[in-house]
Amino acid sequence: MKLGIVGATGEVGRKMLKVLEEYKVKVDEIRLFASERSAGKEMFFNGQKLIVEKLSEETLKEGFDYFLFSAGASVSKKFAPIAAESGATVIDNSSAFRMELDIPLVVPEINAHLLKEYRGIVANPNCSTIQMVLALYKLHERYKIKEIVVSTYQSVSGAGYKGINELLEQENGSKEFQIFPKQILHNVIPFIGSIEENGFTTEEMKMINETRKILNDPSINVFPTTVRVPVLYGHSESVFVTFEKEYESLDVVKQTIASGENVKVVDEIITPIDVEDSDITFVCRVRAFDTKSVMFWNVADNIRVGAATNAVRILVKHSAMNGVM
Ligand SMILES: NC(=O)c1ccc[n+]([C@@H]2O[C@H](COP(=O)([O-])OP(=O)(O)OC[C@H]3O[C@@H](n4cnc5c(N)ncnc54)[C@H](OP(=O)(O)O)[C@@H]3O)[C@@H](O)[C@H]2O)c1
Repeated sequence: MKLGIVGATGEVGRKMLKVLEEYKVKVDEIRLFASERSAGKEMFFNGQKLIVEKLSEETLKEGFDYFLFSAGASVSKKFAPIAAESGATVIDNSSAFRMELDIPLVVPEINAHLLKEYRGIVANPNCSTIQMVLALYKLHERYKIKEIVVSTYQSVSGAGYKGINELLEQENGSKEFQIFPKQILHNVIPFIGSIEENGFTTEEMKMINETRKILNDPSINVFPTTVRVPVLYGHSESVFVTFEKEYESLDVVKQTIASGENVKVVDEIITPIDVEDSDITFVCRVRAFDTKSVMFWNVADNIRVGAATNAVRILVKHSAMNGVM
């Protein structure tokens, strides 16, 4: 397998390399790409030294089987189609193609079947959406979800290495902010992305549209409030969900959530620090007043579950299903 990583020096790109190593993905050749800023930088994969290259159209055409793209939507829009037209399967972490009708939006635990005999661009969903649908998909299969009300508590790493640096610099006394719309240190910012005409933000619209696409049900109503909090890694969500069918008991609800792949329901309280570097979506505080709605708290590592691990899992499934080795 010949693999390229675009955005290899970023938060998600670096974690992709780590997850590929941990999952022992067999790669014959791997090349790393970033912007001019990082060209020439040394990185390591399985102990092998690699030099980061500046991304160019020409290199994308050099017979790659797969690309993992993680360099933002504008880079993906320009370069991913070129890579796909040259025969590679592109797994794209950005928002560029997620809502295109003919592009699969994949969380492998839920809809890996879409990868069978597929070539081209595969979209990786938004991080907050991935951990929410992982906690919900088994409930949807069993009770059919009508409505989801969700508030997110999203870490600064969701905005990449520049988001992390902004919080760390404010911890060291800086009063400046560029990445976030207000000071994030000692604060909570109740919107992520830009506010659209309908009052919802771009990040919230992603949660609405992507949830419907992944769960393959446009009738689900999603009401998100996306919030940035001064946490380094790990997104949390408070989720309230209503169903068409009545459920048997809260215990059965818990068992149903936990029957999801890579999802754990726990009795103890889980916080972002507890899940750093984990590939599991954790659910706790499952509670209710009736048998047609339920509330819970869910936490996952946004860089892994919400990005790098999901992308690597897509790659592993796609290569196994389609015999690309
Ligand atoms: N962080 C998350 O939780 C998360 C979750 C899901 C999806 N995503 C998505 O994943 C992507 C990357 O996020 P991130 O958090 O890893 O961001 P990041 O830490 O800011 O890293 C961005 C990467 O893109 C590269 N890059 C920037 N401009 C480029 C260009 N013109 N040509 C080639 N490479 C370029 C950067 O290279 P340099 O080193 O040269 O700057 C760096 O490797 C984004 O689309 C983001 O929306 C992120």
